Amino acid sequence: MNLPEDLPKAELHLHIEGTLEPELAFALAARNGVHLPFADTDELRRAYRFEDLQSFLDLYYALMAVLRTADDFTELADAYLARAAAQGVRHAEIFFDPQAHTSRGVPFGTVVEGLARALEGSEERHGVTTRLIMCFLRDESAESAMATLEEAKPYLRHITGVGLDSAEVGHPPAKFREVYEAAAALGLRRVAHAGEEGPPSYIRDALDLLGVERIDHGLRAMEDPGLVERLVRDRVPLTLCPLSNVRLRAVDVLEDHPLKAMMDAGLLVTVNSDDPAYFGGYVGETFHAVREALALTEEDLRRLARNSFEAAFLDQEDEALRARYLAEVEAYTFD
Ligand code: HPA
Ligand code: ZN
Repeated sequence: MNLPEDLPKAELHLHIEGTLEPELAFALAARNGVHLPFADTDELRRAYRFEDLQSFLDLYYALMAVLRTADDFTELADAYLARAAAQGVRHAEIFFDPQAHTSRGVPFGTVVEGLARALEGSEERHGVTTRLIMCFLRDESAESAMATLEEAKPYLRHITGVGLDSAEVGHPPAKFREVYEAAAALGLRRVAHAGEEGPPSYIRDALDLLGVERIDHGLRAMEDPGLVERLVRDRVPLTLCPLSNVRLRAVDVLEDHPLKAMMDAGLLVTVNSDDPAYFGGYVGETFHAVREALALTEEDLRRLARNSFEAAFLDQEDEALRARYLAEVEAYTFD
């Protein structure tokens, strides 16, 4: 069997700031006159040893200091889209963290206009269709999230949905009920990180209180059989990120990852890269790693690819596009 890197797929859980490779970080630092507390890219890469989600987030937010202009965001997103295209990605739904930039004095419009420039050229340049999802930082206040939604209003033509990320434990979904209601009233789709480090109750609350259509991670759902039954019945997609879970110590080794068990339980799971510059692989490498570690069959891989397009935010007018992508999955040959 060939490597499954080029299997057609959608990436649905990808933080654009998490695609900042050390080389680009140093290039942008030089261009923008920002000092990085690392001598070179080797020393920076050596810092990519994480204990948990928070130890990663500390470095992830610190490195964002190099992102200052709209061009920086365009370059970041274009580099990701080129890499993704080379690994079979046909459609990418991309998260960004506006508060991590506005809090440093980079205007919301600078971030979105920079990202949108790359995304708008993506279908022609890379053959990848895109959506943009803005995430609220759950360790910031509900008021700050609401103010961020307000700032987004002039840019809603670029934004498909809202998400919730950053430090999970101690920041349950209930805090964001109002801002999710307001987002829904604006016609935005809703997702949230839940059950990465937090308990299964956060997954239930994301569904019940925030009205989310997909759960990002959802790894800990498996601890609650009643919840699994509900997720299977309602076909709620879970966007898994296996390499992230190993690097942030949610699972010890990839061989222990519940991906296969979740598929066997009938859950609609997808495989994604989360923050690929930090976690050792883009989505093609992630497919390859899980195939090896979990002895996935060709049919398992095809099902994961199919799931990714089924879970994508391709609405009614995009059904022909979804059908085309699904046909490409069926037509793919592994040898
Ligand atoms: N979890 C929560 N917040 C994040 C992550 C993640 O894996 N990546 C970037 N922000
Ligand atoms: Zn994530």
